[in-house]
Amino acid sequence: MSVRGNRAAEKPATVTRGDDNDLADLFARNQAWAKSKTLVDPSFFSRLVGQQRPSYFWIGCSDSRVPATEIVNLDPGEMFVHRNVANLAMENDPNFAAALQFAIEALHVQHIIVVGHYGCGGIQAAMAPATADAIGDWLAPVRAVHHAHPCKAAPDQADANALCERNVVAQVEALAANRLVRTAWAAKAALTLHGWVYAISDGLLRAVCEPVHQDGRGVPPPDGTGRAR
Ligand code: CO
Repeated sequence: MSVRGNRAAEKPATVTRGDDNDLADLFARNQAWAKSKTLVDPSFFSRLVGQQRPSYFWIGCSDSRVPATEIVNLDPGEMFVHRNVANLAMENDPNFAAALQFAIEALHVQHIIVVGHYGCGGIQAAMAPATADAIGDWLAPVRAVHHAHPCKAAPDQADANALCERNVVAQVEALAANRLVRTAWAAKAALTLHGWVYAISDGLLRAVCEPVHQDGRGVPPPDGTGRAR
């Protein structure tokens, strides 16, 4: 490729630069939050510098109504978090795989928690006809769970709730078979897998499967009624 060609390729795109005034409110909120933290605990931030020893690894949905640490009332530094659409824990997803490796090998977390939520747009999309786009590709594993459990021709909310729970169980099962988790268990790491569902309607978490320990047992499938236990 010629130098001229490179320069042509590097020609900056036409981008209109604004300033951050549009988001001034977020900076103001950030400053108020940081101030409130240090008012209660002056060394709050200085203690966090250079250390992170969370015991929990949360795998949740990206949905804005399901803010991981806020739901369980934890402070920064107390929970390692990975979020994506429909809370998937697929071994072949490099983004997730890197987070899982860091959680297990660097942080030595003791609990990995997959958290779905009722009313999930990803779950709804996986029940609709597949689309040839990024979301369609991403939701293929959820679609597979859906097709493994036939439901009514016109799925209703109970079917969506049941798929939400089954998807969580499927992710816990995928984790139990994950090479990194298996390696940790073989090394006698105290690592337990959990499957929960969060209800936006009441702000509460429910377990939808038994915790999975060293022996890999647990995870009876949900009863399919759409009700969490
Ligand atoms: Co969701």
